[in-house]
Amino acid sequence: MTGEDIATQLARERALRQAEKMETVGRLTGAIAQQFAEILTAISASAAVLSRALPPNRDLDSVKETAQRGTELTQKLLGFSRHRTLDLHPLSLSDFVREVLDGERRRFPANIEVQFVADEEGGVIDADAGAVRQILLNLVSNACDAMAKGGTLHVEVRRVRLDAADRSLHAWVEPGPYVSVALSDTGSGMEAKTLARVFEPFFTTKTAGVGTGLGMAMTYGLVKQHRGFLHLYSEVGQGTTAKVYFPVGRELALSPLDAGRDILPGGIETILLVEDDPTMRAAAQGLLEKVGYRVITAVDGAQGLEAFRAHRRGLHLVITDVVMPKVSGFELYEAIRGESRDVRMLFMSGFPAPNFRKTVGRDPAVAFVTKPWAASELLERIRLLLESTQT
Ligand SMILES: Nc1ncnc2c1ncn2[C@@H]1O[C@H](COP(=O)(O)OP(=O)(O)O)[C@@H](O)[C@H]1O
Ligand SMILES: [Mg+2]
Repeated sequence: MTGEDIATQLARERALRQAEKMETVGRLTGAIAQQFAEILTAISASAAVLSRALPPNRDLDSVKETAQRGTELTQKLLGFSRHRTLDLHPLSLSDFVREVLDGERRRFPANIEVQFVADEEGGVIDADAGAVRQILLNLVSNACDAMAKGGTLHVEVRRVRLDAADRSLHAWVEPGPYVSVALSDTGSGMEAKTLARVFEPFFTTKTAGVGTGLGMAMTYGLVKQHRGFLHLYSEVGQGTTAKVYFPVGRELALSPLDAGRDILPGGIETILLVEDDPTMRAAAQGLLEKVGYRVITAVDGAQGLEAFRAHRRGLHLVITDVVMPKVSGFELYEAIRGESRDVRMLFMSGFPAPNFRKTVGRDPAVAFVTKPWAASELLERIRLLLESTQT
């Protein structure tokens, strides 16, 4: 086993442990919430009987209100523990996301710019509209909280295939066609130890009264109930991307649009891969090699530039992370463009895509893929870039 294999293996084990922990916490929370829901229903019912029998009474009103608050809390916990009953209907995810964002527009702080992009072909999922709205609102509110000083919220809806190859990054993915919605913010980001706990109910880093710690727990449970997946990518001080994958609606899953898509596109070109995160690097390298590419790796921008100089004759493409120690992806881009106009470059980043055009201008030999990427997305983007002729 190489070091990269071991890194992938460790990441997979970590992910599986995390999934098992969420299962246990979910079962426990669900059982407790169910019991309390019944108790609260009994209290509410008795209070309703009493208030019909008695003259208006403030204490009784307070009993009813408190029981109502308790019921809302148990509903959230049931959402997390997957005991909520979903009402599934075909839903066009891009239309729905646009609608929810429009509805929220007035509530966005003025210093937050909201961007929305969607595939033209759209994608229909089987979903409970109320639950999907809840998922979106939870993610939007976290993004806004993380951008207290303002920033950009970039929302993207795309059709995407997940493959067995995606399991190196996302251990328990089911291969198939999905529609994803990604929300990227330019906020505070999360440290590894926060990321490891975000889905736990009542985990919050916010002051009491602001945070309840239930948003992500609920989101996780609701996504799972749709047989979907939720992936987070975050860098401290840079921002966070939360990406939700919903399986394409059953009736539509076999549409001609998806036929012939189940082969991951590969090639035999040579690619320089510059990425500081060992898990991401191992996953990308493993995938690229599997589909035929020759891969040279570098762990930061400085090493990337050296590798570029050493190999530039045979090099077809540079894939680079954006945020890296020493020399960033954009600095690397500028250094490389100073020496070569035609090598193609693909940026991988978890942060709002349109901002990269500020740095690269109209350079046609450049493309962008959002982290966390799916194998099919990364590989299709690479083919498009390598086959483009405009340079
Ligand atoms: N987009 C984000 N950027 C930074 N931190 C986040 C983001 N989303 C979630 N978090 C972290 O995860 C924690 C849990 O989120 P959540 O379950 O929604 O609870 P709450 O928002 O009430 O704190 C937050 O307190 C925060 O530390
Ligand atoms: Mg929240």
